[in-house]
Amino acid sequence: MSVQAFFGGFHPGMIALLFRRSNRRQSMESKRVAFITGAAGAVGRAIAQRLANNGNQIVFADLDGRVCAALANEMGGGAIGVEVDITDDVSVRKAVAEVIERLGRIDILVNNAGVLVREDNCEMEEDVFDRIVNVNLKGPFLITRAIIPHMKSQKYGRLVAITSRNYLAGGMPAYGASKAGLQALTVSWARELGAYGITANAVAPGSIAVTPGLGLLKRTPEEQLHAARHSIARTPIQRLATREDVASAVAYFALEESGFVTGETLYVAGGAQLAPIATYPTDAK
Ligand SMILES: NC(=O)c1ccc[n+]([C@@H]2O[C@H](COP(=O)([O-])OP(=O)(O)OC[C@H]3O[C@@H](n4cnc5c(N)ncnc54)[C@H](O)[C@@H]3O)[C@@H](O)[C@H]2O)c1
Repeated sequence: MSVQAFFGGFHPGMIALLFRRSNRRQSMESKRVAFITGAAGAVGRAIAQRLANNGNQIVFADLDGRVCAALANEMGGGAIGVEVDITDDVSVRKAVAEVIERLGRIDILVNNAGVLVREDNCEMEEDVFDRIVNVNLKGPFLITRAIIPHMKSQKYGRLVAITSRNYLAGGMPAYGASKAGLQALTVSWARELGAYGITANAVAPGSIAVTPGLGLLKRTPEEQLHAARHSIARTPIQRLATREDVASAVAYFALEESGFVTGETLYVAGGAQLAPIATYPTDAK
């Protein structure tokens, strides 16, 4: 089918004009506002920097408002910091209202905040399970629910969820279940919100190299080395993910140009998602 036929008989000059008009409208707009949860953490900071480099205005959102404000101050370029506990709907609504009041819009939401608790196994305590699922699954639900009306009224939005390759393999039951749940939420958002110009996609990293003491488990250098060896051994590309690998994938889904891509999962796992290997108990026989 020719381009002209596809556009229902429009003259090519008319098509060019339509595209030019929409480009001009975009360039006159102010920066896109990117709200990043867990932005004070290891991966959140890298995502914030990458989205800022791409011309977006950053909202650092995390539990400690003072850290967020300091990070925003250091970044400059109109970045702001807000305190939020994503597991608490009152806190979520307050933070979203503050951003709308100060910046007028939210265009990009990166659901990055997450926790992983060391005692994670199939006999874990109920409160451990609750904590992981509350932060990693209910939190993104609450914050996204609060932001969706603003994106709908703008007829524009980019939702990006940071999940994990782990949900394919098992091994950390509550964490994996919470991330699988977030994958499922993402698909539902993609279905329901596409008509409003809102896309929803997931980035599923493998193990990420972070400075010892940072990241999900705040490991010591020795623990870090042991975990890294274990991860690299099951990764075809034979290294850990960098925070920038993850930020690059997020940056793609946050682009205006990715507007026809929704409901997708991008594994940033060096191929480790291809043959998930869990750890098996040795004392079961
Ligand atoms: N580090 C890895 O190897 C790895 C691998 C795969 C996926 N991930 C995912 O990447 C994301 C970021 O992980 P990270 O390594 O940067 O961890 P991190 O611990 O450095 O950062 C997580 C951030 O989330 C914040 N947070 C926790 N609970 C919160 C709450 N209730 N409300 C608001 N903020 C809250 C923390 O304060 C922290 O700043 C997580 O979703 C994690 O599951 C990490």
